Amino acid sequence: MDKTIELVNGVKDIHAMPTVIVKALNIMKKPTASMKELGDIVMFDQSLTIKFLALVNSAYYGFSQQISSISIALSLLGMVKVKNIIVAVAMKPMMSNQGDKELWRHSMQVASGCEYLANLTKIMDSDEAFISGFVHDVGKIVLHMTNDKMYSKVISLVDEGADILATERKYFDSDHVKTGSLLAKRWQLPILLANTISYHHNPSLSSIPVPCNLVCMVDKLVQTNFNPDSIDKDFCNTLGIDFEDLEDLRKAILQKADVMISELS
Ligand SMILES: [Fe+2]
Ligand SMILES: [Fe+2]
Repeated sequence: MDKTIELVNGVKDIHAMPTVIVKALNIMKKPTASMKELGDIVMFDQSLTIKFLALVNSAYYGFSQQISSISIALSLLGMVKVKNIIVAVAMKPMMSNQGDKELWRHSMQVASGCEYLANLTKIMDSDEAFISGFVHDVGKIVLHMTNDKMYSKVISLVDEGADILATERKYFDSDHVKTGSLLAKRWQLPILLANTISYHHNPSLSSIPVPCNLVCMVDKLVQTNFNPDSIDKDFCNTLGIDFEDLEDLRKAILQKADVMISELS
């Protein structure tokens, strides 16, 4: 059997998406989708309600008035943002390994950075940018769940400068792009997300390059050992961003992401 299929089949907890995400996505698919239905998911879960209220009152969105009603909070955000946040919160347990929230944190940083840059440059819809950034490394869950110790070893080698996909292949005979692409197929994720998962390390091969380029750039920007030379200058030009401003941009993104991470943690 193909190694990627073997790895994905081997992690039972991942075969189905969390129920709350399936519910939220099904509501969004209906032409008659209403905020009330989506809101019911949030209001059914007290901790989710508290998180939404905290987030909507935080500096992340910068609404001017204090919001104490959950229905006002949800209508201010709009359905797509509410759905995205439900997904981000519901995926947290899967992306947190033995209490270590690093993958979730990284996914939130890329999500929030993509949303920020999409808003700033209008290169794509900011809500789609957020969710593309959030799911890009979803394949890493499979590697973590298969052998957490071995994947931690991969991560430390990558931190020392090793190439991530090559190192994953060396230890797992597959990589997070392959496992992520298979998950995207199994979970029937929309084509935009499947594409980002498959090509965020190689945007030039994608048939939908903008989201892949955006995710690829933010993915590099948020790294602890950020290296400006790793950034694609052409794409930077396309965004109208001055290469000299990357360090400030990185700070702004990390700061903004931290607000959302702390409100949703
Ligand atoms: Fe990746
Ligand atoms: Fe990443």
